[in-house]
Amino acid sequence: MEDANRAHHRRDRLAARRRFDEVECTISHLLRFPHPALGGRRYGEALLQGLGARGIGPGRSGVVEIGGGAGHVAEAAWRGDAGPFTRARWTAIDLSPSLTAAQKRRALEPSQPGGPHLHWAGLRADALELPLASRSLDGLVLANEVIADLPVQDGRNAGAIRLVGELARVLRPGGAALLTEFGGDFEPAPVRLLGAMAQGEHVEWSIDFRQLRAAGAQAGLAVEELPLHALLGADLSVRCASYTDLWRLRRVASCEVFAAPEAEVRRRFPLLSRVLALELPPLGSPHWPDAHARGGFAQLFRALILRRG
Ligand SMILES: C[S@@+](CC[C@H](N)C(=O)[O-])C[C@H]1O[C@@H](n2cnc3c(N)ncnc32)[C@H](O)[C@@H]1O
Repeated sequence: MEDANRAHHRRDRLAARRRFDEVECTISHLLRFPHPALGGRRYGEALLQGLGARGIGPGRSGVVEIGGGAGHVAEAAWRGDAGPFTRARWTAIDLSPSLTAAQKRRALEPSQPGGPHLHWAGLRADALELPLASRSLDGLVLANEVIADLPVQDGRNAGAIRLVGELARVLRPGGAALLTEFGGDFEPAPVRLLGAMAQGEHVEWSIDFRQLRAAGAQAGLAVEELPLHALLGADLSVRCASYTDLWRLRRVASCEVFAAPEAEVRRRFPLLSRVLALELPPLGSPHWPDAHARGGFAQLFRALILRRG
């Protein structure tokens, strides 16, 4: 029987904007515009520069991005400064028809700086059956906040472990992969996500990174794990809107779902920011991005780098 999450993404018709504004707001969505906590960079620029600083590059195969969502990381690499990945060849793999189309629209947008992406291709496929030849990639495979969507069986992140196996199959020497997600050295726990009228409802699972490190090592890959904020070089002291703040604000006012810096929010909404008691916490607070979660970006979001030596 098909996994419920797989069926959800395979049949997804929800507009990208609604999915990421209302159902599952990712860190990369909240930081998709230039941000002071990232030294004025976009999330995608900071992420790819961080990998570049660790000696990882696009090789000849470029970047294969699995589960690119609305396509902001690909856009940052094409239109911004992504270190060695700037204007690199980009192959997007996603199961969702709606998000595959959104990524294509964003990449091929002719009126944005840099014009349409000249080296972009999109494929609708499952991360667990990558349509790629064995030992074919000497660049980067990226899956940013994707693996929590993959199946869990009997307390094991079975889908994420299978993806690590797929990565070991497709990477050739010099190639690397980056998986980012929330989790830690503890057993997978479910998080139910849904928007208004239960739209986009599905369950995600935190990642037990012990299982993924073991799977990578077993598959013969070099494994490095670090906090996601360290890879991004994020300044955790910068105060900005959390998703919880934005949710409160958007019930009574119109604003982007973006982690706008504290000063900007207070300048734009001087009265509402006080009446609604917006917290506007530091990026490193356990309350950012979600004041009701058991930890935040700085505490729970990890980056796993896998390399084929
Ligand atoms: C939580 S979103 C993350 C999107 C984006 N990377 C970001 O950080 O905002 C998960 C993405 O993975 C895709 N996805 C989920 N399951 C998948 C699967 N089995 N194979 C390929 N893509 C999948 C979804 O369609 C979506 O684009």
